[in-house]
Formats: sequence, C-alpha cells, structure tokens
Amino acid sequence: EKAGYDHFMLKEIYEQPEAIKDTYRGRMLPEKGLIRMSGVDDNIEKFLNAKRIIVIACGTSWHAGLVSEYLFEDFARIPVEVEYASEFRYRNPIINEDDVVIAISQSGETADTMAAIKIAKEKGAFVFGVCNVVGSSISRETHAGAYTHAGPEIGVASTKAFTTQITILTLIALKLGKQKGEISNSQFHAYLNELNTIPEKIERTLETNEEVIKVAEAYKNAKNCLYLGRGHNFPVALEGALKLKEISYIHAEGYPAAEMKHGPIALIDEMMPVVVIATKKGHYEKVVSNIQEIKSRKGKIIAVVTEGDTSVKQMADHILEVPDTIEEFTPLLTTIPLQLLSYHIAVMLDKNVDQPRNLAKSVTVE
Ligand code: F6R
Repeated sequence: EKAGYDHFMLKEIYEQPEAIKDTYRGRMLPEKGLIRMSGVDDNIEKFLNAKRIIVIACGTSWHAGLVSEYLFEDFARIPVEVEYASEFRYRNPIINEDDVVIAISQSGETADTMAAIKIAKEKGAFVFGVCNVVGSSISRETHAGAYTHAGPEIGVASTKAFTTQITILTLIALKLGKQKGEISNSQFHAYLNELNTIPEKIERTLETNEEVIKVAEAYKNAKNCLYLGRGHNFPVALEGALKLKEISYIHAEGYPAAEMKHGPIALIDEMMPVVVIATKKGHYEKVVSNIQEIKSRKGKIIAVVTEGDTSVKQMADHILEVPDTIEEFTPLLTTIPLQLLSYHIAVMLDKNVDQPRNLAKSVTVE
C-alpha cells in the first residue's frame, strides 16, 4: 500500500505531480482558455460581487489559505482575510451577506473549522468548501465547494493536500480575475499554460532529494531552525517550519524575511540553520540582503533558489534548486524541498514519521 516507499509521507510527497494534475483535470482547459468549476460557476454572482473573501482553516490548510490571499489579490483584486478557524469562532466576527467564506480542510472533519462555518452561515455568508475527503462533514455543511482530488492522505503531516489546495485556490483566483476583467485573454492563456507545466516542474524539484538528504544529515541535530520567505513564499516558510516541528520535534519558526531584523535576528549564531526561500522573483534583492545579514552573524543558510542562480549560491551553505516559474506559482515548487527536508530529518532521528506523537489526522476536538 506504500507502493515501495518507506512511509506514506514520502509516497504522498512523490504523488504531488499526479495529484495536482488530478485536481485541475477537467477543470482547467488551456487549449480552450477556460477554467470550469461547477461549484464556482453555479454561484458566480456571489463570487464576482464579493466585497471580501474570508478564508477559514487550521494548520497546513490555513497556510494554503495564506497563499491564496496573495493569489486573490494579485489575480482577482479581491481583499482577503485569512483566519484561524479557532480564533474566528470565538470572536464576534463581522460578516456580511456579500462576503464569501472559503473553508479549507483536508479531512473535512476539523471541529474548529466546522464550528466557524456554522457561524458564517448563521450570519448569512455564502460558504464555499475546499475539502479532500469526499462526503466529509465540511463538504456537506458548505453551500458549494470544490474537492482537491489528492486521493487519500494517510501520513499525518499534510503534503499533497496542501499543494492541491493551493491548486484549487489558484484556479478560482484565475477564473475570477478573468471574469472580472483583471486578467486579459492573453495573460490568462499564459497563466493556464504555465500552471500546466507545474506537475513536470515538481518532478524536477523532487530531484533535489539527494541534496536534501545531505542537508538533513548536516542539520539533523539542530535544536532550532528558522524559515524565512517573503510575499507568496512567506506562507511556505510557515509551512516548512510546521512540517519540521510536527514530525522531527525540532523547534522551528517561520517568519517573513524582513521581520528578521525586528527580533529573530538575535537568535542567529553558528548553531542556527536558516532556511531561506530566495527564488528569483519578487523581493529577490531584499532576500539576498537578509541572507548577508544572517551570514555576517555566522548563521547557516539553506537556500531554496531558482535553477541557475549564482548570487545566493555564493553565500549559502547549501542550495536547493527549483525550476523557474511565475512568482504566483512558486509556492507549489518551493514547498517540495521543505517537505523532503522535514521527512529526512525525522527518519534520521528515528521518529514515527507517519504518526507523530500527540497528533491525529483529523482533529475533531475543539
Ligand atoms: C499539518 C496538519 C494539520 C492539519 C490541520 C487541519 O501537517 O496535518 O496542521 O493541516 O489539523 O486539518 P484539515 O485540513 O483536515 O482541516
């Protein structure tokens, strides 16, 4: 059942190219220049008239929500708020009838997300679900939705659910952007064609595995680890840190790279590995200067860079290369080496990768 892999998590990491294809198959038609999603099409007025999108989720799904904030803003020019379901439900949230609420959940059973959906519905919002498990409670409780067709995710640490959630949210953002006239026909075609290359680019990214193993070997005994990213890759930094924490039990924190100087920089010394997402898009120069600041304090840099990068390569202790793509799609690639890194460190430390202590696949307690 693990198809020759040592763990479900590794199998699921390697399934991502296929899972993403399964998620966009039949929905994205690059030759026709069309995105077709019944849950969105049937409610298109609600989406087009939305003054705001509120995303509610927990954990890794919340990170996918954060990625979508950048996508909805860039592609569709819709303001987005991303909320932890557990915080949202215990506040007195302001929700209007022209808000669209998107609830993201792999399992479709997360109690906090479910409770937040109920509140949003009571307040009159339209609630759209992005779930992986077909027929799950959240998929039934929402007004409409789109399934991520990732297939069963058995490893407790979420991997392919995350990238397929981002895929769905990308499709929705592109579709709305097109229909709102924010994206021209030719741009739209270019975006679809580029998204269509992502599975193959993930295949190539998976080839970093050998290099990731070397990095894991070098830092497996670290007590702490920082993850930095900016813009679209800030949520990827958070997700990378969460993956490391939950399966290797190494303390890790994700930060927007520019926030470093407001505090975390005090932590940097020769014992601190810092994983930096420094792809050649958005804020590259700024991230390069963050790397210099870390190096001058003797921190160790593991940089995720665009293939062929030379400037970061000179400064970093290790580099992990991903193929070039448009900035909006980089999270789908930069996430991959971070998943592999947490996986290999956990295996080297002899941890129970698929069933980390104290965690459950679906959190049905509030
Ligand atoms: C992280 C992880 C958890 C879940 C969270 C939400 O790897 O698995 O953080 O992402 O419990 O679960 P779902 O998406 O099922 O609502």
